[in-house]
Amino acid sequence: MMNESRITKIVGVLIFLIGVVLLFCYFEKGDRAALLAAVAMILVGGMIACGLLLRSIKSGPFDLVFFPSDDTESRTVSPLSRGERKKRTTYVKKATESRAVAVPGSDAPPFKILEDSEVLKNMPRADVLTPMYMLDSKYRIIDWNGAFNLAFDHSMAGMRGTTVLEWVYLLENYQEVIDHGLEVFSGKEPPAFDIETIKFKSRKYGLVTGIKRAFQVPGDDGKCAGWLLTIEPSFADPKMKYVFWQDLFAFLRKTLTWSEYALSYNNVLNNTDVYPQLLSDILGETGEITAIPPDARVLDLGAGTGNISRRLVEGHNRLVVAMENNPIMLSFLRYQCEDYICYDDRGYGVMIIKQDIRSLAGIHDNYFDVVIMNNVLYSLEEEDALTCLREVCRVLKPGGEARISGPQKKTNLDKLFKQIKKELKKKDRFSPQMERQYNHVKMINKYLLGPMLFKWTMADVEAMALNSGFQEITFHTDRAYAGQAMIVCASK
Ligand SMILES: C[S@@+](CC[C@H](N)C(=O)[O-])C[C@H]1O[C@@H](n2cnc3c(N)ncnc32)[C@H](O)[C@@H]1O
Repeated sequence: MMNESRITKIVGVLIFLIGVVLLFCYFEKGDRAALLAAVAMILVGGMIACGLLLRSIKSGPFDLVFFPSDDTESRTVSPLSRGERKKRTTYVKKATESRAVAVPGSDAPPFKILEDSEVLKNMPRADVLTPMYMLDSKYRIIDWNGAFNLAFDHSMAGMRGTTVLEWVYLLENYQEVIDHGLEVFSGKEPPAFDIETIKFKSRKYGLVTGIKRAFQVPGDDGKCAGWLLTIEPSFADPKMKYVFWQDLFAFLRKTLTWSEYALSYNNVLNNTDVYPQLLSDILGETGEITAIPPDARVLDLGAGTGNISRRLVEGHNRLVVAMENNPIMLSFLRYQCEDYICYDDRGYGVMIIKQDIRSLAGIHDNYFDVVIMNNVLYSLEEEDALTCLREVCRVLKPGGEARISGPQKKTNLDKLFKQIKKELKKKDRFSPQMERQYNHVKMINKYLLGPMLFKWTMADVEAMALNSGFQEITFHTDRAYAGQAMIVCASK
C-alpha cells in the first residue's frame, strides 16, 4: 500500500509534467493560454511534489498531527491464509482430543445481536464518559474518574483510603444505601455483583439519581481484591443532562490536551536555557527569590512531568508532594522521579498524588513551607483559582510562601517561541524530530491552551493571592521566562 505522502508526490509530479507538455504546446503553437496554464501547473505541481503546498494547507491550527507516524498503513488485520488457519484449527483439534475436553463455549449457538444483546446490560461500562470509582476489598476508596468528579461535585477529593461510608453520608438517600449495604455485604460472602440507586444533590446539576453497579474485582489469587463501581446518572432537571455532557466534554478535551502536551514539552523545554532558568528562579537558586531550605516540605501543584519535583529533591532532604491529575503526565512524573518516590511523609523524597488541585482535601493545615505552582493556575477558571489559592494558603505554615508563575495578559507567545527556537538551534538540538516536537508544543500553546493563557495581569494574581488569605506579596516580576511570564510570591 502506498502512503498518503507518496501519492501526493506522484500527483505533484504528474501536474508538473502536464505543465511541461503545455509549455511545449506554447512553443509549437504560440497559444498564450497554454503558456499561462503551463506556468501555473509547473509551479503548483513542483510545490506539491516538494511537499510545500499541501503541508502548508494541511497545517491549519487544529491539524495537530506533528508526529507523522511511520506506519500510516491501515491497521486492519489481514485474514489468515487457508494453510495457516488449517494449521491452527488442527492444533486445537489435537489439543482437545489429547485432553479429552471440548473448547469452552464450543456448544454455544451463534450470537445474534438482535436477540442476545440483553447480556450487554450487565457488563461494566467503565469508559471515560461513565462516572466510576473503585474500592479495595475493605471498602476503602481507591480511585475515581473525571466524570465522577463532575457529576458528584468532586465529593471524593481527599477521601482516598477512607471508608466509602464517609461518601455515603453525603448522599440524599444515605439511609437506604446503608440499609442495603448492611443487608448485602455484612457478615457473609459478598456477591459478585450488586445494583442499587443513589441520590446526590449536586450544586450545579441539581438532583442526580444514579444506578450504581458494583462489580467484584478478583486479584491474581482469585480472591476479592476490590470493587469497580459504575454509575449511570440521570438528572431531575432534564436540561442538566446536556449541561453535564458539555462539562464532561470540556474536561475530556482539556485532559487530552495535557496528555498530548506531556508527549513533547519536556524534551523541548529542558533543552533550552529559558525554561531551566525559570525553574532556578522559582526555586530561589538565582538570588532574587529566597532559597528553599534543603529540608523543606514543598507542594508542587500541577507537577506535570516532574521537572520541578525532581530538582527539588535531588541532593536534598526535602519532602516534595507532587500533585497532578493527568494520567500521561503522571506516568512521566513517576518515571522522572522514580529514584525518589516515597509513600509516606516520615522521610524525604517525592510523594506523588493523583488529585485535582481545585481541592487539597486530605492535606493538613499549616503543613508546607513552600507551595509551587508553575504554569498551572491559568488553567483554572477564576472562581476555581481562588478556591485553589485559599486551599494553598490553608496548607502553608504561617510565614510559608506560595510561588506562582505563569503567562500574563501581555505575554507574547511568538517572542517566547522565537527565543526557544534560537536556543535550540544554538545548542545544535534543532533536529527534525525536535522541530516536530517544537511545532507541537507551540501549536498546543497557541491554539489549545491559548484561550486560557492571557487572562490575568501580575496585579490580578497578586490581588487574588491577597483575597485568598495571604498576608504579603514578597516578590514579583513580569519579566521572567524570556520576559514573557510573571512570578508572584506571596507569604501566609
Ligand atoms: C503546563 S503544565 C506545567 C507542569 C509543571 N508545573 C512544569 O513546570 O513542568 C500544567 C500541568 O498542570 C496540570 N493541571 C492542570 N489543571 C489541573 C488540575 N485541575 N488538577 C491537577 N493538575 C492540573 C496539567 O495536567 C499539567 O500537567
